[in-house]
Parts: sequence; structure tokens; C-alpha cells
Amino acid sequence: MQKRVHFNWFVVTVVIVLGITAFTRCMDRGAKQTEGNAALQAYEEFAGSNKCVSCHTDIYNKHIQTAHYQTSAPATHSNIAGSFDNDKNSITYPNGSVIKMEEKDGKFYQVAYMNGVEAKRQPMDIVIGSGKKGQSYASWNQVNLVQLPVTYFTQAQQWCNSPGYPNKIAFNRPITSRCLECHTTYAGEIIEKASSKAEGFKESEIIYGVTCEKCHGPGAKHVDYQAKNPADTTGRFILNPRSFTRDQSLDLCALCHGGKLEKTKPSFSYTAGEKLSAYFNWDTTAKVAGSIDVHGNQLGLLKSSSCFLQSATLTCNNCHSLHENNDLFTYSQKCMDCHSTEHGNFCTEKSVSLEKKKNNCIDCHMPKQASRSIAVILPGQNFITPTFIRTHHIAKYVEDTKKFIEGIENKKNRK
Ligand code: HEC
Ligand code: HEC
Ligand code: HEC
Ligand code: HEC
Ligand code: HEC
Ligand code: HEC
Ligand code: HEC
Repeated sequence: MQKRVHFNWFVVTVVIVLGITAFTRCMDRGAKQTEGNAALQAYEEFAGSNKCVSCHTDIYNKHIQTAHYQTSAPATHSNIAGSFDNDKNSITYPNGSVIKMEEKDGKFYQVAYMNGVEAKRQPMDIVIGSGKKGQSYASWNQVNLVQLPVTYFTQAQQWCNSPGYPNKIAFNRPITSRCLECHTTYAGEIIEKASSKAEGFKESEIIYGVTCEKCHGPGAKHVDYQAKNPADTTGRFILNPRSFTRDQSLDLCALCHGGKLEKTKPSFSYTAGEKLSAYFNWDTTAKVAGSIDVHGNQLGLLKSSSCFLQSATLTCNNCHSLHENNDLFTYSQKCMDCHSTEHGNFCTEKSVSLEKKKNNCIDCHMPKQASRSIAVILPGQNFITPTFIRTHHIAKYVEDTKKFIEGIENKKNRK
């Protein structure tokens, strides 16, 4: 049984972390986009999203159901996506060695067996990925984090070899600060001499999930102030992206949805509102849609669309409400904020009724496309199975329109 995995989500550059002393930042940043002061954020500046619930109850309760919130957490029985059942909990490598996912005394392990004999056992300490597409697991090795060899691939509903791993058992791939910068709100790093091989982290200083303070900036001072001044109905010492300029807004999403960024400052230095280019070398030249993978670079694809190029204001937030999950109907209403018969730029497609169109612009104009970077070879197959991700190159797609219309016809015939 051969399982070969060919995905390589992101090329993560391991950069030697500079020893920069963290100092408290000026928290009352206005809407002005600063170059950035390049100070590492300090753990003490954060309150944690559970501190926001008492005053922003609705937002909090919706937000915890999003992929952002759920993208990392300490491993528990309920947040591990894969199965521990006996017939579904192992993968076999070409040399005959086996890894089994095992649960023991409330802890979870990936256990390697060579010739049926246990060779290595490593706990699954942290889940990375909401599981919408897949989930990887990190394990503590003293202060270092390693990515475990087996990942869960949701589309095939099975365990498989971790992205980019050689097709043999390996327990030594480091989890970098950049990986955590995209999948957590904060991770306190142990800054060591340049000679140290892997970056170290403080387990007690990890704020899991992409939560409130990633987009609003660290909030300890805001929580403290508002609690002590209940009569003040103005929010202080906290950022509201509503007042961001277009660039500020796009930069925030680009930190994690902007394709390949090469960091020039330590991870966790950039704060919402700042200029991303002060922290990363970043190729912002316009690209042809076909050259950009649908995974991980929604900004690049959006920027190649005429919606973006011919509008002065379009940002990710026109369509996405960051605190909650939306459905295709809701998204389609956002398209019609700009596209309507009154504006003289409504859809010119003729074969679908207006009513059907208004329910779903998305499947025809932002179809799901195969990712080149997230794709696996499943057991017993000799071809690649890709993950399908929504393209953000908004355009006219003839083939997808045909499929969409066939889908409607098929539904009619089944009735
Ligand atoms: C003790 C109550 C309290 C707590 C706790 C609290 N806030 Fe607020 N927050 C407020 C009040 C009051 C306002 C002003 C009224 C409003 O916009 O809702 C506000 C406003 C805001 C705003 C809008 C600011 C603006 O300029 O428009 C954001 C963003 C925000 N809070 C985020 C957070 C986050 C993130 C947390 C948790 C880290 C948090 N708040 C915790 C009371 C609180
Ligand atoms: C992925 C980014 C992101 C995350 C995570 C996030 N927010 Fe927001 N938040 C935004 C944006 C963007 C806006 C501005 C809304 C807009 O432009 O429509 C906003 C607006 C707000 C406001 C002001 C309301 C308003 O309409 O102006 C509050 C309060 C707030 N957020 C609280 C929170 C709290 C509390 C959490 C965590 C439970 C949270 N946010 C998580 C991006 C985020
Ligand atoms: C700190 C990194 C980070 C930032 C900043 C960030 N995102 Fe994300 N975003 C992620 C990750 C990681 C995922 C995938 C979560 C998962 O499924 O595990 C994601 C997923 C999403 C999704 C898909 C949600 C779903 O249900 O599948 C949307 C939409 C999204 N982000 C929009 C935005 C927008 C818009 C912004 C800017 C306001 C933004 N993100 C900022 C890291 C980030
Ligand atoms: C540049 C930011 C970035 C880096 C670095 C990064 N990721 Fe991601 N990751 C994302 C975004 C954004 C998504 C989801 C959106 C998409 O598919 O484009 C995602 C998706 C995932 C998913 C699938 C989640 C789901 O179920 O939807 C997993 C698993 C994952 N990443 C693991 C990792 C691991 C492990 C590392 C480090 C070794 C890593 N990623 C590095 C941004 C990043
Ligand atoms: C014109 C509307 C629009 C804009 C602008 C937009 N998106 Fe989306 N986005 C969508 C729709 C629609 C979906 C599909 C949602 C679904 O399938 O449930 C989506 C899905 C996503 C996903 C999940 C992709 C997947 O298939 O898993 C991510 C991540 C995302 N958007 C990030 C962003 C980011 C970052 C930006 C800004 C650079 C952005 N979006 C701008 C409409 C938009
Ligand atoms: C902020 C306004 C805005 C939003 C939101 C928006 N668009 Fe556009 N879109 C434009 C502009 C401006 C153009 C260029 C010319 C025109 O007015 O049609 C355009 C062009 C297009 C085109 C023609 C593309 C081509 O290559 O010829 C299509 C198709 C389209 N949009 C579909 C959508 C869909 C579907 C959505 C929602 C997912 C959407 N747009 C959201 C502003 C917007
Ligand atoms: C069944 C698939 C389908 C649906 C649903 C659909 N479109 Fe279209 N749309 C098309 C096709 C195909 C074209 C190109 C038609 C042509 O050139 O004759 C098009 C053209 C357009 C154009 C370009 C008009 C121009 O002048 O060039 C815009 C803008 C647009 N659609 C927006 C939308 C919006 C907004 C929605 C949702 C309310 C939507 N479409 C729903 C398939 C669809």
C-alpha cells in the first residue's frame, strides 16, 4: 500500500531570529499606516479572546465557529479530525514500517512500528488546521516543536504522509515561527544565539487560533481601560479595521493570504495597521491568474481581477465578514452591491433565470479550482488527487457555467 504525498503548502523560510528586545508598543495607533517599529509583540500586551466575550458577546460567539478561530489548539479528542478506530488509524510506508495513531490515558500519539516492534512514540500536542481541508499535528520536543509525520487529508477522509515529507518515517521537521505566525495569534519565542538550529517557543505563551487580537492588535490595555471606565462608550486602545485605508486592510490579510513572503524582521513583529513591506520582502507585481496557485494567495488572484483593478475601494472585507461564516447567497448579495441593472453592469448570461442567478453568482464566477500545491497520491492510485479551492480571480468561466447549468437541469430531472 503506497501513500505518497506531494503537497507542499508553503515554502517556509527559516530565518535566523535576531535578538531584539521587546518593548511595549504605542497602543493608541490611529488609522495612519506606520512603517512599523519592528518591536516584537510581548505576550503581556495580549488579553486573549476569552477576555472579550463579556462585552462583545455576539461577535465572540460567532467568531469561535470560524476556521480562523479553530485553526490551532491544544489537541483534544474532539478537535482531532482523524479516526483512532482500529481499522482506520494507521498508514503503511513503502519499506513496510507503520505509523499508528493511538489514544492512551487521554493523550494522543503517533507511534512508529518497524517489523511490528514499537520504535518511536511522539505525542500529538497541538492541532494545526481547522480540518476543513486538512490538519497537521505539532509535538513538543523540549522547547522545540516538530511537525509529526502523519497529517489528516479531509477530502479523502483519511490519514496520509505529511506535506513535503519524504516517503519514510521522519519525526524531525521543525515547526517554524512563520508557521505559527499564520496559524496562531501569538507565540512567545525563545530567542537564542544564531547557532541554535531550531526556534524555541514558550508553551505558556501561545495564543491559539487566529483570533480577535490578530486583526485588532493586542488588547490587554483596552480590556483594562474599558473595565475601569464603564461610562466611556468609546473604544480606546484598540484598532478598528473599519477605519483602515485600503492598503492597511489588504496588508493585514496578506500577512497570511498574500502568497510567498520572505521575512526581513522576526515573526510576530508586524501588527495590524502597519505596512507589511516593512516586515517582508514581497513581490507585489501583478501576475497572470494562471500562474498563481488557488491555495494561499487570495490577494494575488483578487488583484488580477477587473473587479479589483477597476474599483478604487474593493478589499477582502467587501465580501467577508470576519466574525462569522457566510453562505453563497449572502456572498452573492455583496456582488450586487456593485453589479446591478441600475449600474448598467449586471450579468449578461442569458440561460439562467434572474432569481437563480441572484442566489449564486459564485459557482460561475469564482469556481473551485484544483490546487497544484495541495494534492496527494492516494493508496492504490497512480494519479494526483488535488484539493479544490475557490479561485479569487473573478471572471467569466464558460466551462463552469455549463457545469452549473447542468447541475440545475439534473436537479430538475430528479424531482
Ligand atoms: C469591559 C468591556 C470590554 C471588554 C472586556 C472588551 N471591550 Fe472592546 N469595547 C468596549 C466598549 C465599551 C467599546 C466601545 C463601544 C463599541 O464599539 O462597542 C469597545 C470597542 C471595541 C472595538 C471598536 C473600536 C473602535 O474604535 O470602533 C473593538 C475592535 C474592540 N472593542 C475589540 C475588543 C477586543 C478584541 C477585546 C478582547 C481582547 C475587547 N474589545 C474587550 C468594551 C470592552
Ligand atoms: C480576521 C480578522 C478579524 C478577527 C479575527 C476579528 N475581527 Fe473584529 N473586525 C474585523 C474587521 C475587518 C472589522 C471592521 C468591520 C468592517 O469593516 O465591516 C472588525 C470590527 C470589529 C468591531 C467593531 C464593530 C464595527 O462594526 O465597527 C468589534 C467590536 C470587533 N471587531 C470585535 C472583535 C472581537 C471581540 C473578535 C474576537 C472574538 C474579533 N473582532 C475578531 C476583523 C477581525
Ligand atoms: C494570522 C494569519 C491570518 C490573517 C491575518 C488572516 N487570515 Fe484568513 N485564514 C488564515 C488561516 C490559517 C486560514 C485557514 C484556517 C483553517 O481552515 O485552518 C484562514 C482562512 C480564511 C478564510 C476561509 C474561512 C473558511 O471558512 O474556510 C477566509 C474567508 C479568510 N481567511 C479571510 C481573511 C481575511 C479577509 C483576512 C484579512 C482581514 C484574513 N483572513 C486574515 C490565516 C489568516
Ligand atoms: C503564509 C502563511 C502560512 C504559513 C507560513 C503556513 N500556513 Fe497553513 N494555511 C495558511 C492559509 C491562509 C490556509 C488556508 C487558506 C488556503 O487554503 O489558502 C492554510 C491552510 C493550512 C491547513 C489546512 C487547514 C484547513 O483545514 O483548511 C493546514 C493543515 C496547514 N495550513 C498547516 C500548516 C503548517 C503545519 C504550517 C507550517 C509548517 C503552515 N500551514 C504554514 C497559511 C499559512
Ligand atoms: C468579491 C467577493 C470576495 C472578495 C473581494 C474576497 N473574497 Fe474570499 N471568498 C469569496 C467567496 C464567495 C468565497 C467562497 C465561500 C464558500 O465557498 O463558502 C471565498 C472564499 C475565501 C477563502 C476560502 C477558500 C476555500 O475554497 O477554502 C479564503 C481563504 C478567502 N476567501 C480569503 C480572501 C481574502 C484574503 C481576500 C482578500 C484578498 C478575499 N477572500 C476577497 C468572496 C470574496
Ligand atoms: C466594489 C465593487 C465590486 C464588487 C463587490 C464586485 N465587483 Fe465585479 N466588477 C467591478 C468592476 C468595477 C468591474 C469592471 C467593469 C464593470 O463595471 O463591470 C467588475 C467586473 C466584473 C466582471 C467582468 C470580468 C471580466 O473579466 O470581464 C465579472 C464577471 C464580475 N465583476 C463579477 C463579480 C462577482 C461575481 C462579484 C461577487 C463575487 C463581484 N463581481 C463583486 C466591481 C465589483
Ligand atoms: C450560470 C452561471 C452564471 C451565474 C449564476 C452568474 N453569471 Fe455572470 N456571467 C456568466 C457568463 C457566462 C457571463 C458572460 C456572458 C457573455 O459574455 O455573454 C457572465 C457575465 C457577467 C458579467 C460581465 C458583464 C459584461 O458586461 O461583460 C458580470 C458583471 C456578471 N456576470 C456578474 C454576475 C453577478 C453579480 C451574478 C450574481 C448575481 C452572476 N453574474 C451570476 C455566468 C453566470
